[in-house]
Amino acid sequence: ALEAETQAIVDQFEFSDDDVNRAVKEFLRQMDEGLRKDGTSLSQIPTYVTAVPNGSEKGLYMAVDLGGTNFRVCSIQLLGNNSFRHTYNKVAIPKHLMVAKTAQELFAFLALEIKKFLQEHHNEDFEHHIRRRMTVSAPEGFRDEHIFRMGFTFSFPVKQVGINKGTLIRWTKGFDIPDAVGKDVCALLQEEIDKLHLPVKVAALVNDTVGTLMARSYTSPNKHGSILGAIFGTGTNGAYIEKLSNLKKGLAGEYDDTTGHMVINTEWGSFDNQLNVLPTTKWDDALEKGSINPGYQMYEKRVSGMFLGEILRLVTLELHNNPNVSFFKDENSSFNDRGSVTVIDRDSPLYKPWGVDTSIMSTAEADHDPELSALRQSLEKDLKIYAPAYEDALAFKRISHAIGRRAARLAAVAIAAVVIQTGKLDDPELLGEEIDIGVDGSLVEHYPGFRSMITEALKITEGIGESANRIKIGLTQDGSGVGAALIASVAASMEKNTS
Ligand code: BG6
Ligand code: GLC
Repeated sequence: ALEAETQAIVDQFEFSDDDVNRAVKEFLRQMDEGLRKDGTSLSQIPTYVTAVPNGSEKGLYMAVDLGGTNFRVCSIQLLGNNSFRHTYNKVAIPKHLMVAKTAQELFAFLALEIKKFLQEHHNEDFEHHIRRRMTVSAPEGFRDEHIFRMGFTFSFPVKQVGINKGTLIRWTKGFDIPDAVGKDVCALLQEEIDKLHLPVKVAALVNDTVGTLMARSYTSPNKHGSILGAIFGTGTNGAYIEKLSNLKKGLAGEYDDTTGHMVINTEWGSFDNQLNVLPTTKWDDALEKGSINPGYQMYEKRVSGMFLGEILRLVTLELHNNPNVSFFKDENSSFNDRGSVTVIDRDSPLYKPWGVDTSIMSTAEADHDPELSALRQSLEKDLKIYAPAYEDALAFKRISHAIGRRAARLAAVAIAAVVIQTGKLDDPELLGEEIDIGVDGSLVEHYPGFRSMITEALKITEGIGESANRIKIGLTQDGSGVGAALIASVAASMEKNTS
């Protein structure tokens, strides 16, 4: 019975080749809609970044990165030969600050971490603010020439109105501080930095996907650079290079239009909020009801790390409670080679909404041992399911795989649509050459086979097919700090031009 019930669940997470193709068409339609007007589900946010770096950029910059699992502060020395050196501090964001009463509390914490970093790694500059070699070389006569230019990677939907100015549209990924919505996040951070008298200017506002795209292009061995930077981590999103002529909605800020292109932050986490093509099981519905942003980020809720563990938790609990099957129950003890009885601790994360960390899915996927020992250990240690039987662990692994595979095939939908939208596969100048994509985030980094499942789905996508082999999906770890530094360098050169 367990096997049949498991199969029935697995079947519900099937996302067929036809489903993939239908979804790619809808993704392209929603991309185009987002390029034409505001307020659409794919936001298609213009970033004012009109060129990607070529690897020759130089200088010392700071960057901070908020929005993934950790908050990072770093300084980056761009060496100008497609490489860089960086120093960074990483801290987990205290949970209570993610839902603080006021934005000020969160930004004050960030400023304090910046201060600690400067004291620890750049003490001399911090004390004297005057060591020229440690700062961006600003033009003669430029007043604040001895301060760090800082790129701010802020990985939430922001309506950008200039290179270092943008208002928060909405929070995602478990953050919820209503007071910040509609405010300029750069100004909020600068205010707290100034209160501490730190020699830092927030020079650029960057989404993590844009940072990843920049970093990948800076270090990419591919002479044509990258076309897409994508995150599959706590959340998911992508930024790609679009032709300015396709961008039909008005632009509020100034930009350099000589390249004919602009980087667009798609905010694809909210692809198909209206559920035209996204698959929905009853567990997706249950997750939705318990989320802090119902109706939004519908694609992200089926694809990214913050949510997959919760889907798995909901399915696992339901199967456990099903009176017709034995799943993590005492009756299975006869199968239990340790001779003990399966017990789910009352304190198990299975009983806590959002309690199951998605990392157990990577453990399940990676475990090819005939006894599934690593997975069974993790079920005990992480989920407090004591003495799980092999059969039960196997059912858990199959369900987990089905959820992960659906996520990877959905991830392929976004990638396929962006590749098709850019027209690069048919570009005569790129015949037979690789099309490069930079990816980052805990899911794509740690979930075994995530990228190969994407490639497998790309191969059955109309308009891509065997050309999927030309699409290189490269990991760009910690790329967004470097990317933010690169954009800060662009901003610094703009200051030079206008001062
Ligand atoms: C990090 C990037 O490597 O990955 C962040 O520096 C990004 O900018 C993050 O947000 C995404 O991954 P996760 O798993 O931390 O959400
Ligand atoms: C969420 C955010 C988006 C970010 C992504 C990955 O979708 O809204 O801005 O890029 O997570 O971190």
